Amino acid sequence: MKLADYKATLSFSNNSPSMEMPVYEGNIGPDVIDIRKLYGQTGMFTYDPGFLSTASCQSAITYIDGDKGELLYRGYPIEQLATQCDFMETCHLLLYGDLPDAKKKTEFTRLVSIHTMVHEQMQFFLRGFRRDAHPMAVLTGLIGGMSAFYHDSTDITNAQHRDISAIRLIAKLPTLVAMAYKYGIGQPFMYPQNKLSYSGNFLRMMFGNPCEDYEVNPVLERALDRIFILHADHEQNASTSTVRLCGSSGTNPFAAIAAGVACLWGPAHGGANEACLNMLEEIQASGGLNKVGEFMNQVKDKNSGVRLMGFGHRVYKNYDPRAKLMQETCKEVLAELGLENDPLFKLSMALEKIALEDDYFVQRKLYPNVDFYSGIVQRAIGIPVNLFTGIFALARTVGWIAQLNEMIGDPEYKIGRPRQLFTGSVRRDVPPINQR
Ligand code: CMC
Repeated sequence: MKLADYKATLSFSNNSPSMEMPVYEGNIGPDVIDIRKLYGQTGMFTYDPGFLSTASCQSAITYIDGDKGELLYRGYPIEQLATQCDFMETCHLLLYGDLPDAKKKTEFTRLVSIHTMVHEQMQFFLRGFRRDAHPMAVLTGLIGGMSAFYHDSTDITNAQHRDISAIRLIAKLPTLVAMAYKYGIGQPFMYPQNKLSYSGNFLRMMFGNPCEDYEVNPVLERALDRIFILHADHEQNASTSTVRLCGSSGTNPFAAIAAGVACLWGPAHGGANEACLNMLEEIQASGGLNKVGEFMNQVKDKNSGVRLMGFGHRVYKNYDPRAKLMQETCKEVLAELGLENDPLFKLSMALEKIALEDDYFVQRKLYPNVDFYSGIVQRAIGIPVNLFTGIFALARTVGWIAQLNEMIGDPEYKIGRPRQLFTGSVRRDVPPINQR
């Protein structure tokens, strides 16, 4: 970390001595005040629920400029990665810090592809779930369960174990997501086919069956690959911070990633794509475009509890660059499938148009986020709504692992242990049961 040439001084109005704190500079983005000695010197904690002003770590992986609407993976703009690279190159970039040359790309892709099969016994573990279980519940279980199937790569302090578990997770997630889907609809599991691309293989495992050859549609293959690139990492969001906190105890990588999957499930995070599509379907069912105005009035009414899902972001106070790319992909996929008049796409364009001009959204800087269009693309491809967040988890796995491994390699890393402002009862004695 680079020390800035100035310091921060904290002074108190009650005559307690003031305190000087070092400031560190990032390569881009805000500087940070180092408060690590604060408690030792003053006996006080800082209070920041939701981490509104707190950097929880140093990281060299992903950078977001929320005001500009800029997203960089290892310095490369998301727009360039999404149009000039594929997901395997993006994984290599996030994991190892650089884009692979042609030879390294072939080697890395091959390495991932030879790990796509899962232990045969995992299907029996999966069969323990109800057929109608939510795929995120199944995935949380299956990924946590990987630590029982691959216990030769669970030592987080061993670099070789970390490398193997990283490749295993990236390679096997598509297989597990597709298995969760096939199980739910009662179809046989499809074994991976390693000559196909990462997204082509996933499409085949999802929509192929053992009775027929499956032809991968290159437009859908590219669209899915783009979905994976756009979701691959997003710096210290809730699920990534969960993975880091979970991993900080020294637990194994599969357990830490399972914790991330569980966190991603929530509707304020990865579950927003599912919630967004459900919202569009409800508006459509209640009258479609004619009901957009009424729905927007509900969104603006704080007492209604209704939010425009797929809108707003803690960091982006401008158009989410991923949403723009996703909107392009959406148009391509709908055109390919002859669904240009898709009513939900029309509905989302109408909602976006109103929101971008409406004072409520303008004043609060609420713009479409990645989830606003990703659901429409996935639905057009044939992915069921309750699997959307599973697709997000599949794509985000590489980011979680890159962040976990970065944390373990950081000499400043410690087990995460936030403190609290206690507002409960002060010490009291337990009264006898007949006096309570
Ligand atoms: N619809 C209506 N009002 C909203 C929305 C929305 N989608 N998002 C924020 N607001 C309002 C909110 O009511 C508040 O108004 P006020 O200042 O008058 O009280 C103001 O905007 C600030 O909102 P906040 O909840 O304090 O902001 P936050 O940073 O805590 O929340 C968010 C960020 C993403 C949770 C929130 O915008 C939201 O719930 N959006 C809908 C869910 C969604 O699309 N989530 C996906 C996020 S992107 C994918 C990912 O990273 O997982």
